Amino acid sequence: MSVAESVPAAFTINPLSPALGAEVVGLDCAQPFDAETMARLREAFQHHHMLCFRAQDLSDAAQIDFSRQFGPLEGLPEKDKTKGRREVYNVANVSVDGEHLPEDDQRVIFQRNNARWHTDSSYRDIPSLASIMYGIEVLPDGVEGGETGFSNMLRAYEALPAEMKRKLEPLHQVHSYGEIRRLEPQMPAMTAEERDSVPPVTHPVIRVHPERGGQRSLFFTSNTSLEIGGMTLAEGRELHRWLVEWADRPEFCLYHRWREGDLVKWDNRVLLHRAIPYDYAAYRRVLRRTTVAGAGPILGPFSNAVRDGLA
Ligand code: OGA
Ligand code: MN
Repeated sequence: MSVAESVPAAFTINPLSPALGAEVVGLDCAQPFDAETMARLREAFQHHHMLCFRAQDLSDAAQIDFSRQFGPLEGLPEKDKTKGRREVYNVANVSVDGEHLPEDDQRVIFQRNNARWHTDSSYRDIPSLASIMYGIEVLPDGVEGGETGFSNMLRAYEALPAEMKRKLEPLHQVHSYGEIRRLEPQMPAMTAEERDSVPPVTHPVIRVHPERGGQRSLFFTSNTSLEIGGMTLAEGRELHRWLVEWADRPEFCLYHRWREGDLVKWDNRVLLHRAIPYDYAAYRRVLRRTTVAGAGPILGPFSNAVRDGLA
């Protein structure tokens, strides 16, 4: 082995806030990582939950290669939001051909739905492990909006009043991709094929993490259904409103202001995120997302594996 191959990459990891997040400076994500770099990144991801790799220059293919180092990728259920390959999701108010879209275009309306706290692909039986988003065109300095907000659900769970922890313990939320259409009524109905590929699922509201020695976090979303099993719709809505306000508390949150070339990887198992709205007509914003698939179903306090002491 040559000396160059045996020397691990020199890069620094700097925390971005007390709540979550760190920036990685001096690492080229277009190159495959050696084992030591992977180990450092894995540890940093476990600790900070969100890593922002600065100053990257990545093609679609390079982003896919980078992302696959962390596991198999998800494909999107709808063809029209991808760039021809279902693993690459165009998060933009600009078409894949570069046209700045009108505000009433369904692709822009879909972006607005991202403004609610959520975790990616929670509408699947096995929701995603991580999302990876690359900043291609970002809002100029001084312009309002366009950040991605993150909220740390490990901290949010820890800080809950004991009575609320008890109340949430047995609850499950219904997650339904089709509900996005109800929340954004201007969107066209899904085709039967799309609907059949993503039937509603339920997940525990308290998530137990085997990879964290059984530590717990909150797990809920507001961009799909607001139904909570065992409650009337009105009770579920009220509880949901309370949870959303709780997730908003500044001590759990980081608002990431994008720089061109940022590549942000976040942990969908323990964070919620949201897009902060901006003036869609005046500014272009182009990000590109890949999504690492989850490793198994979501465990709650009453899952068999937890009860049997495996988590
Ligand atoms: C997403 C998303 C946030 C943003 O694409 O899943 O939530 O800031 N995006 O665009
Ligand atoms: Mn999202």
